[in-house]
Amino acid sequence: MSQRTLAIIKPDAVERKLAGRIIQRIEDEGFTIRAMRRVHLTEQQAGGFYAVHRERPFFASLTQFMSSGPAIVLVLEAEDAIKKWRTLMGATNPANADAGTLRKEFAESIERNATHGSDAPETAAFEIGYFFPGVDLI
Ligand code: CMP
Repeated sequence: MSQRTLAIIKPDAVERKLAGRIIQRIEDEGFTIRAMRRVHLTEQQAGGFYAVHRERPFFASLTQFMSSGPAIVLVLEAEDAIKKWRTLMGATNPANADAGTLRKEFAESIERNATHGSDAPETAAFEIGYFFPGVDLI
C-alpha cells in the first residue's frame, strides 16, 4: 500500500551542498516527492519536533544542531515508504551504516547524520503535520 513519510535533509548536509545529490537518490529509488520546503528551525521548534527524545542526554545538542542552519523537509510517497526511506538512509550511526546508504556516504557523525526519517506510521503523521498543512500535500 502506498504510504507517506517525512524526510529531512539536515543542516550538516544542506551546508555541504549535498541536497541535490540526496534528492536525486530519492527520485532514483522511486519515491514521489509530495511536498518540499526549506526551513530554518528555532531551537524551540527543533525541540517540539524531537519531543520524544526530550529526556535523552543528546537532546540539547541535537536541538542546537538542528537549528544551526537551514534544513530541507520533504514528504515522500512510495509503497512501504517509511521502511524504504529508512533503508536508503542506513543506520543512525554512520559507523554502522551499510555501504551504499546515504548516511554511509554523507553522514559526519551519529548526530550530524545528514538525513532523518519517520520511524512508524503514527510518527509520520505527527511529523508531516508539523511541517505541512494538509492543503499543501498534493
Ligand atoms: P534522527 O534519525 O533524526 O533521530 C534522532 C537524532 O538524534 C538522530 O537522528 C541523531 O541526529 C541524533 N543523535 C545524537 N546522538 C544520538 C544517539 N546517541 N543515539 C541516537 N540518536 C542520536
